[in-house]
Amino acid sequence: MLGLPDKTVSFRTFGCKQNQYDTDFLRESFERKGFTVVQGDADVVVINTCAVTSRSAQKCRQAIRAAARKGAKVVVTGCYPQIATREVQEIPGVIVVGGVRERGRLADLALAALETGEPVVEVKPHVDGEEFEETSVETPSLTRAYLKIQEGCGDYCTYCIVPYARGPSRSRRPESVIREAERLVQRGYKEIVLTGTHIGLYGGEGMLPSLIERVSRIHGLIRIRISSLEPHDVTPELIDCLRLPNVCHHLHLPLQSGSDRVLRMMGRRYDAALFMDIVGRARQVAPDLGLTTDIIAGFPGETEADFQDTLELARAAGFSRIHAFKYSPRPGTRAHGFEGKVPEKVKEERVSTLITRGRELSTAFHRKLVGRGFEVLVEDDREAGGYLAGFTRNYVRCRFPGEDDLMGKVVNVTVEEAGPLGVTGTPRR
Ligand code: 5AD
Repeated sequence: MLGLPDKTVSFRTFGCKQNQYDTDFLRESFERKGFTVVQGDADVVVINTCAVTSRSAQKCRQAIRAAARKGAKVVVTGCYPQIATREVQEIPGVIVVGGVRERGRLADLALAALETGEPVVEVKPHVDGEEFEETSVETPSLTRAYLKIQEGCGDYCTYCIVPYARGPSRSRRPESVIREAERLVQRGYKEIVLTGTHIGLYGGEGMLPSLIERVSRIHGLIRIRISSLEPHDVTPELIDCLRLPNVCHHLHLPLQSGSDRVLRMMGRRYDAALFMDIVGRARQVAPDLGLTTDIIAGFPGETEADFQDTLELARAAGFSRIHAFKYSPRPGTRAHGFEGKVPEKVKEERVSTLITRGRELSTAFHRKLVGRGFEVLVEDDREAGGYLAGFTRNYVRCRFPGEDDLMGKVVNVTVEEAGPLGVTGTPRR
């Protein structure tokens, strides 16, 4: 039996919302083992990594090095060590290398490494039929919780490393999702974000809408947000979920490209017309729908005409926000060996054009809200400048002046100004 560590620990999270949930869980499990959780510098720094592009892996490497330089012992977990264990293990200062499996053991591994002074490397490879690892989050909060309902992906889009990092799709049992959601609501959370690697795969065909419906009936849950859906998973039943009173009018549908040719090369299972059809049907149910997306620029073989198709579709879809990615060849994926590499400079130009187009579209979307009233779920941190802030149901960041007692409440705000990052308004009395 190891004694109480009497050590401080802090956490850094890179990448997706699923990682946010995993970090929330890790934070609590380290606390249970006697660590004192702090912000910033600490004896032990846990870095929950992302490896979706080579740049995300590089940022994680920099964070590991920076923490080690400050004298911290570094625990690395998540997707990056899962696909590049050796690379991570060799970074000076790293005392534990864990992957995405058996997260519940990470704190024990850290204790063992601290006690013996020996680094611990424990990255379990993925296996077929792997089970969903149930974790729970207890920390009370006034606003938003992430709830992971699924992990992994078996789609193998040709550019994507994620199926290798996260493993095969596995789902949390519905009863367990409901129990966790109820607990979060009891802890004070007003909004639950259902997350996963590819939540359209939840529980098998047609299961996600009924899960959303069950969660939406939980008494006291003000909002449910669906983190991200693959376009080809958006069924009429899922669109109908937008009619439920507490389901947010926000969809994140990763487009990746607006060119049918490129979509085919990427191994995506929809074309531009189907994408627009889904968007049209969702907007019929939710006219104010916030629609966010991911787009990759510079996939091998992408011509200027393909890229123009993407820009055109982005405008037609009226995205409220675009996450633009420069194509990053990931070793082990099929596209890594594709011909027709797009020169770095062209990729950079296209990404920067996409960012500009994204800003224009965000501003245009936000402008349409001016003069109207929206419900904002007020977060418990103030923005720089002293404003209260939160998101509208359609995922627009809204700031406004107000007192602390509004934190954690839903406040009706009249929107007065719009910018690329969000809107500013006045609370209604
Ligand atoms: N290069 C660039 N972007 C990528 N993404 C996934 N793989 C790559 C890659 N190899 C982006 C996709 C995905 C988001 C999470 O990351 O746009 O939706």
